[in-house]
Amino acid sequence: RQLSLIGAPIEEGAGQAGAVMGPAGLRTAGLVGTLRDLGHDVADLGDLRLPADLPELTLAVGNAKNLPRIAGWSRLIARETETALAQGRLPIVLGGDHSLSMGSVTGVARHWQDQGRPLFVLWLDAHADFNTPETSPSGNMHGMSAAFLCGEPGLDGLFGDERRVLVDPKNLHLFGIRSVDRAERALLRARGIDVVDMRLLDEFGASVLIRRIIDRVKAANGVLHVSLDVDFLDPSLAPGVGTTVPGGATYREAHLVMELLHDCGLVGSLDVVELNPFLDDRGKSALLLVDLVASLFGRHVIDRGP
Ligand code: ARG
Ligand code: MN
Ligand code: MN
Ligand code: MN
Repeated sequence: RQLSLIGAPIEEGAGQAGAVMGPAGLRTAGLVGTLRDLGHDVADLGDLRLPADLPELTLAVGNAKNLPRIAGWSRLIARETETALAQGRLPIVLGGDHSLSMGSVTGVARHWQDQGRPLFVLWLDAHADFNTPETSPSGNMHGMSAAFLCGEPGLDGLFGDERRVLVDPKNLHLFGIRSVDRAERALLRARGIDVVDMRLLDEFGASVLIRRIIDRVKAANGVLHVSLDVDFLDPSLAPGVGTTVPGGATYREAHLVMELLHDCGLVGSLDVVELNPFLDDRGKSALLLVDLVASLFGRHVIDRGP
């Protein structure tokens, strides 16, 4: 496949510094060579740079830290993912904190709306990221991206005059969840969002739950965007993230999810977010992420069948 790597060194949406080094960490861990070894045509577009003139934005209610900068990043990133898809390339956005998905998914949603195919989003995360400026306990915008994408109010001016395409809340699948704020929980319930929390994962296993989602995408002739937050993984495996939560996905579960996603052939775009190399342990998290991306793009132990 033709892949475009888009570095998005953004950390203004997170509560602590360091995610700005995420794209460099993923490259240092060998991402480009790994994907090329799997036979892919990889164009590394380098890192995006935030323009100097930022939109002037103010909030009617609540708190959203660094709003003008996140708005600038979102507009930039959306253009990049939409352009990559228009060129027939699969965009992989290297974060950078999870606020970047407001941009990446918006660009992807524009493209698939033009193509008349429904977009589904798989959000692999410890957190729901379903706060609004009004409900957020922290004001950190990486905790608001999924809600924004589904059209929750409060950040309406983020794209200014630029085209905004929403994700249908029915097509958002949160997966691996184990930390949800009180108001966030109420909003998830009110919107009927599908939440696969760790309890469900323990009880039914990753295979059944991922296949259920894949079957929905397939039945709708849809396409799937995968947004992988490092804290989806258990902190013992991936300590390089600012918001670790115990009890995350295991090594086996995470690889199985990636392998099943590869086999279904429906993944059209990817974000790898929240890697904070400053907090990592000798590159352990970055190396695991590269291995997971390899599984998603076709690495397997032996060749089976035709
Ligand atoms: N729920 C918390 C908040 O809104 C944490 C969000 C963490 N998000 C993330 N992408 N790591 O502040
Ligand atoms: Mn997240
Ligand atoms: Mn278009
Ligand atoms: Mn998270």
